[in-house]
Amino acid sequence: MTTLLRIDASAQLQDRSLTRKLTALFTEAFRSADPQVRVITRDVGADPIPPIDHRFIHAAFTPPAEREVWMNQRLALSDRLIDEVTAADVIVLGAPMYNYGMPSTLKVWIDHISRIGRTFSFDLSRGDFPIEPILFGKKLVVLSSRGEFGFGAGEVRGHLNALDPGIAACAHYFGVALRDIETVAIEYQEFKDARHARSVARAEENTRRLARRLAATGDARTPTPEPAPT
Ligand SMILES: Cc1cc2nc3c(=O)[nH]c(=O)nc-3n(C[C@H](O)[C@H](O)[C@H](O)COP(=O)(O)O)c2cc1C
Repeated sequence: MTTLLRIDASAQLQDRSLTRKLTALFTEAFRSADPQVRVITRDVGADPIPPIDHRFIHAAFTPPAEREVWMNQRLALSDRLIDEVTAADVIVLGAPMYNYGMPSTLKVWIDHISRIGRTFSFDLSRGDFPIEPILFGKKLVVLSSRGEFGFGAGEVRGHLNALDPGIAACAHYFGVALRDIETVAIEYQEFKDARHARSVARAEENTRRLARRLAATGDARTPTPEPAPT
């Protein structure tokens, strides 16, 4: 049985949010193709997670056997969020662009997921790359929306895009390799013109197609093999 983790991060509620529409569409299409799918939902836009602080960091970097009661309490939400990621085969992320990056609520979710001993290990004997991910083999679908346009590599606002690289940089904490990230983005939302309408239609079609492919082929559970180092 496949487990789908749906994360929503828009500060807008369902009827005013394009990313929520896309994550709903993805979930619906996935379920149509795979009625057995188990869906976990986590809405950090409507129900924000508190930011990490010095107590969180102290608790996270204390070995589990040495943790005091308050430390386990401080990490309880992070543990639950990591359990959700660990259970997932596919993670679908509704990621609006805010001030050229991700919403702060989504960043806080990532800060809670990125935990030593749970999602990564750290060992200086590995030299200059001491961090290794613990989770593997998951697929990540980023469903985004932007008010402006041209945020792709080499496009007119490509250099301003801090959203997609920000998510990609942390994807290993969710057990996702870079090649296993799929992105669909609506553009022109602030222009509200024919280009926006076309962008919405294209994004909806691509979202449905992606959901059907990941659900129907079993692709969701089969990580793409690592390419040989060059
Ligand atoms: C606080 C805020 C900041 C935004 N910043 C940007 C931005 O930097 N670039 C951009 O293209 N659109 C920006 N937008 C437009 C949103 O990306 C757009 O409205 C998108 O549809 C939001 O996703 P949602 O519809 O799921 O809420 C911003 C919107 C808000 C509310």
